[in-house]
Order: sequence, then structure tokens, then C-alpha cells
Amino acid sequence: MSEPAAPIWVGTSWKMTKTLAEARAFADVLAATSWDPTVQPFVIPPATAIAAVAERLAGSPVLVGAQDAHWEDAGAWTGEVSVPQVADAGARLLEIGHSERRAHFAETDERVNLKVRAALRHGVLPLVCVGEDARQREAGEQLATVTAQVRAALHGVPDDAAVLLAYEPVWAIGEGGTPATPDDVAPVVEAIAHEAGPRRAVLYGGSVSLDNAAALLEVPGIGGLFVGRAAWQVEGYLAIVETAVESARRR
Ligand code: PGA
Repeated sequence: MSEPAAPIWVGTSWKMTKTLAEARAFADVLAATSWDPTVQPFVIPPATAIAAVAERLAGSPVLVGAQDAHWEDAGAWTGEVSVPQVADAGARLLEIGHSERRAHFAETDERVNLKVRAALRHGVLPLVCVGEDARQREAGEQLATVTAQVRAALHGVPDDAAVLLAYEPVWAIGEGGTPATPDDVAPVVEAIAHEAGPRRAVLYGGSVSLDNAAALLEVPGIGGLFVGRAAWQVEGYLAIVETAVESARRR
């Protein structure tokens, strides 16, 4: 018997948006949605809303994540939250190494690795973001850059530990980002999968929208989509999920 196809991951990070009321309203719609098993949905609220969203999504297939957590379990780290704390709030997934954190909050490769290990210690699934910036892409350094980031993130991590990767080219992210094309994405996804090992899903993120989601899901070996702005309204998120379901049917 052949193995069932792996689900397509489709998730969104809300970054620094949404009040509790807005987060609850989004989660209520997700809780009332019937999910196709070809897609693995996830949502990453700001820390303030993890518990409220997780409570509403208890028993639903939607995984709830955290956007960051410290590598120590507890201690005198004013302003930080730890992996046990976000797990206690209901996070089952931890986003690590997003380019906004690498650029503005000293998220070095070494800290990414410490956070991956901390997540795994507590049974939380790490979602490691990697990607080159515009200068590195211009210089043709994208494969070397992401390979080094993945290698550093997984240093000392057992081969059989579940870890998700996301290819997020810095030049494609956010307002003013240029959406990457499937041709831009394909070789980098292959390089990440090669470095991370064949059983680890590689998602793509950076200006994903309803316009490019279907084409990006055609990239060989792509494991899913990680969406920002286009999924901050629940209708936008669910439309991209539906695109992924249709893409899974074609696979
Ligand atoms: P964006 O964000 O979809 O708004 O470009 C993507 C990301 O940062 O993961």
C-alpha cells in the first residue's frame, strides 16, 4: 500500500495585529469550518491571544502557534515568554527565525538553534523561517544562504525530530515586497529539503495571495504556504485554504 499523501500546510501569522475580540472572531469562524484532511491548517496569533484562540480551537484540526519564545524555560528575562509558557497557553507550534525578528531583534542563527531545541524539549513543533535578502539574491547567494541557515538551525537536532521549514525570501515579505515566482522558489525549496532531510515539509511564505497561491503550490516538493497579510481576514485565509484543497486534489 502506498503511503497517504502528506497534507498541505496552510497557515498564517498575524504578526503584531488583532485585539482579543478580533482574534476570537477569527477563531470562531475557524472552529465552525469543516476541514478537508488534505490540508493542515495553522494560525499564529500574537502572544496575548494564544490562549483565547487555542480555547476556541480545542478539538479542531487547526494548530495554534506562537510567533516567538525564549530558549530558557524560565527566569529573569523581562518581557520574554518561554516555550513552556506558550505551550501552557495552547501553542503546539513555534515560529522561529522570521526575518523581521532576525533583522530587528537579534535573532541570530545561534539563537534560532537554541529555540529549535527548546521547542523540541517541550514537544512543540518548530517552524523555522529561512531566506536570503535582496543583496544576497542579486549576488546569486540564495542557495548558500538558506543552506547555512538550515544547517545552523538544525545543529545537534536528531534526524527524526519533526521540524517544519519555511522559505521566506526577505525581498518578498510584507508591504513593498516583490512576490517570488515559482521559478525563484523551486531551486531554493529543493536546497532546503536537501539540507533538512526528505521527511521535513518546506513551506513558502512572502506575499502569498489568492493570485499566486495555486502556482506556488505547483512548485515540486513544496509542503505548503505561510501567509501574512492576505490571510489576516478570515475570508482571505479560507480562500487560500480552498486553493490548497483543490491543488491537493490535482496531485
Ligand atoms: P506577507 O508576510 O504575506 O504579508 O508578505 C509573509 C511572512 O512574513 O511570513
